[in-house]
Amino acid sequence: METKIFPAADPSTPALAARIIRSGGLVAIPTETVYGLGADGLNPEAVAKIFIAKGRPQDNPLILHVTGPEQMDTLCHDIPASACLLAEKFWPGPLTMVLPARDIIPRETTAGLATVALRCPDNVVTREIIRLSGTPIAAPSANLSGKPSTTTAAHVYADHAGRIEAIVDGGPCRVGVESTIIDLTEDRPRLLRPGGITPEQLLDALGDLVVDKAVTAQIDKDTVVKAPGMKYRHYAPQAPVTIVAGSREKAAAYIHRHFEQGDRVLCFHEELPLYAHCDPLAYGDEADAATLSAGLFAALRELDSPTVHHIYARCPVGGGIAYAVQNRLKKAAAFQIVDAEAEA
Ligand code: TXA
Ligand code: MG
Repeated sequence: METKIFPAADPSTPALAARIIRSGGLVAIPTETVYGLGADGLNPEAVAKIFIAKGRPQDNPLILHVTGPEQMDTLCHDIPASACLLAEKFWPGPLTMVLPARDIIPRETTAGLATVALRCPDNVVTREIIRLSGTPIAAPSANLSGKPSTTTAAHVYADHAGRIEAIVDGGPCRVGVESTIIDLTEDRPRLLRPGGITPEQLLDALGDLVVDKAVTAQIDKDTVVKAPGMKYRHYAPQAPVTIVAGSREKAAAYIHRHFEQGDRVLCFHEELPLYAHCDPLAYGDEADAATLSAGLFAALRELDSPTVHHIYARCPVGGGIAYAVQNRLKKAAAFQIVDAEAEA
C-alpha cells in the first residue's frame, strides 16, 4: 500500500483522515507530545492492526484519544472528582488519565484490563479528526515497538512506509516526550509515566501524588505493573547507552578515558566544545529542559545505527520537564548510570 502524507494545514485533511479511521484503517496523527499510530479505538479489528504494525506485545493497552471531557462518561464509569478537575486544568494537553472502563471498549484496546487510559491532545487538527471520526482514536506512539518515539512525520514514514494508509504531517512535536500518565482508580493518585504535565503541577492540583516504582527503576519482565508498557525495553537505540552523571568537567574526563572509535556522545549544547574529537550530538540546552525533551527522541533515532558501538549520554537533573527526560533516558540506558564524580 502507498502511505499518503496529508499536510495538517490542508483543509481537506481532517475529513480524509477520518474516513480512513472510520473504515478501519491506520493513520499516524500529530500531537503535542509525539506522533501516534491511530485507529478506531472501538473497532477490535482496526486496533489489532496497530499491534501488528508496531510489533507491540498484546498485553500492552492503548490510550484512547478524545475531543474533551464530554466523552469521558460514555467511555468510563465511577469517574472521580479529581479526573474532572485535571481535565478542566490540563486538557487539551499532555495528560493521560487511567479510569474505570465501560464495556463498549474492546479488550483489544484495554488489553483486558478493567481500566482505560484517556487523553485529549492539544492539536486542533487531530481533535478535528477525532470529532469527524465519531469515535475515540486509539493511538500508541507511532514508533516500532522498543524504538525511540516518533516526533516528526519523517520518523513515522521511516518506520511504517507502505504499511499504513496515511500520515498527517503536523511538523515537529512541541513537547517531544509522551504524555504524563496518572492512574485515578485507586485511593491515591499515582504517577505511572512523567511527561509534559509535571509532578509539581499534579501535586499542586491534587494535593497528593504517589510515584509508581516503574518510573524510577528497572522493572523485571515478570513483575505485575500498573502500566504494562513500563516493563518493556524502551526508547533504545541499537548500541548500549551509558548515562554519565556528575559535573561537566568530571563527566568529560570520564568519557574521554573510555571513548573508543565508533562511540558517540549525546550531550547538551553547552558541552559541545568539550567533546570536539568525540563526534558529539547535542539534543538541547541544559539551561532549558524543554529543548531537551523536544530534541531527545530525534537524537536517539539519529544514533540508532549499527555503526554506533556505545553511546555516552548526559542527562539533566531536577524536576519539571527534566524529570520526564531523565525517565526516558534512563529507560533507553536500561538504567546503566555511572557517577563520574565517584570514578575520578
Ligand atoms: O503522548 C502520548 O501519550 C502518546 C501520544 C500518541 O498520545 N501515546 C503514547 O502511547 O505514548 P503508548 O502506547 O506508546 O504508551 C501508553 C502507555 C503504555 O505504557 C501503556 O502500558 C499505558 O500507557 N497504558 C495504557 N492503558 C493503560 C491502563 N489502562 N492502565 C495503565 N497503563 C496504561
Ligand atoms: Mg510508546
